[in-house]
Amino acid sequence: MKKHILVIPGDGIGPEVTAWGKAVLEQIASQYGHEFTYDEALMGHAGIEATGNPLPDETLEKAKASDAILFGAIGHIKYDNDPSAKVRPEQGLLKIRKELGLYANLRPIMLFDELLDASSLKPAVLRGTDILFFRELTGDVYFGEKSRSEDRNTASDLMIYHRYEVERIAHKAYQAAQARSKRLCSVDKANVLESSRLWREVVQEIAKQYPDVETEHMFIDNAAMQLVKNPKKFDVVLTANLFGDILTDEASQIAGSMGMLASASVGDGTGFFEPIHGSAHDIAGQDKANPLASILSVALMLEISFGLKDEAKRITTAIDHVLKAGYRTGDIADTLTQPDKILGTKAMGEMVLQFLSKPALT
Ligand SMILES: NC(=O)c1ccc[n+]([C@@H]2O[C@H](COP(=O)([O-])OP(=O)(O)OC[C@H]3O[C@@H](n4cnc5c(N)ncnc54)[C@H](O)[C@@H]3O)[C@@H](O)[C@H]2O)c1
Repeated sequence: MKKHILVIPGDGIGPEVTAWGKAVLEQIASQYGHEFTYDEALMGHAGIEATGNPLPDETLEKAKASDAILFGAIGHIKYDNDPSAKVRPEQGLLKIRKELGLYANLRPIMLFDELLDASSLKPAVLRGTDILFFRELTGDVYFGEKSRSEDRNTASDLMIYHRYEVERIAHKAYQAAQARSKRLCSVDKANVLESSRLWREVVQEIAKQYPDVETEHMFIDNAAMQLVKNPKKFDVVLTANLFGDILTDEASQIAGSMGMLASASVGDGTGFFEPIHGSAHDIAGQDKANPLASILSVALMLEISFGLKDEAKRITTAIDHVLKAGYRTGDIADTLTQPDKILGTKAMGEMVLQFLSKPALT
């Protein structure tokens, strides 16, 4: 198979982890006889530094011309501490999602048994958890009108949803539920928010088209609590942009670390694959970042954008073997981890390649 992939490393730990996602793609291509070609582009702080624009025009053109995008992370401490900055790294990410019509963000909470002890939750609570989040990506407070009063003492972000935005992601989530355990939980705040009342109304209508799927509606506050109380109760979770952002960071603790969660953003055109974590200034440039979320993002790319299920499975199996052999990055190490098996970013990336190259990997 021939595919052209755009790599956008971004800022902070983005380039460090994305290098390993790309290395895994290259190894898979050579093992399975695929021809993947690559291009690279700037976004976020890196884009601002080079061109003054967090999403340079050239990046957008390259993105539209590619078959899939592997993204790292954006963000820089200087903007986090300066909320008044007009040009900001995250504008690049929001714009590319809008421009590529990436309205559905899929975040699988994949739990490796070996990491049951890495979570702050009890293994008995976690074991068997398998959740697929559908986070809406192009609406909500992220894109609604923002305003500040003249005296700067009052601020507002408009939480806005249109029927079509809820419909299109609901269909995707229901179709996924049909292929899984046929349970879908839609999370909103319909007791308070008008936009959530529209959300619930639309989901109730769409649900009628999928009678084989059992639908539950849950308020966000309850969902946040249930997720740590009994994560196994969830299968497909459908939710809005802001609620999904927060719930999936919470859910990352089920998987052990932010460094373990991958995501796929899909919609009208090119798919966009990225770890859910940010640029992690606190560990950037120190060879401490866990590259597994980026590598798992590559597995999602192969499966979702290219339909290469065997190749994707080989990657998750290789990671499973690496973890079974006791290797950990610092974020997923626990008291039982042997000190000499705690690896940096580079050594963990190399370890995955080494296991990936083993002929018998089941
Ligand atoms: N999609 C994105 O690009 C994205 C997402 C979230 C935050 N951000 C940006 O990232 C910057 C930092 O934000 P934050 O600190 O809230 O979130 P973060 O995800 O960057 O980091 C949160 C915590 O998780 C740890 N962590 C994250 N990824 C890790 C990895 N791969 N391995 C080991 N530990 C990891 C970090 O060290 C940190 O302690 C901000 O500028 C923010 O705007 C970007």
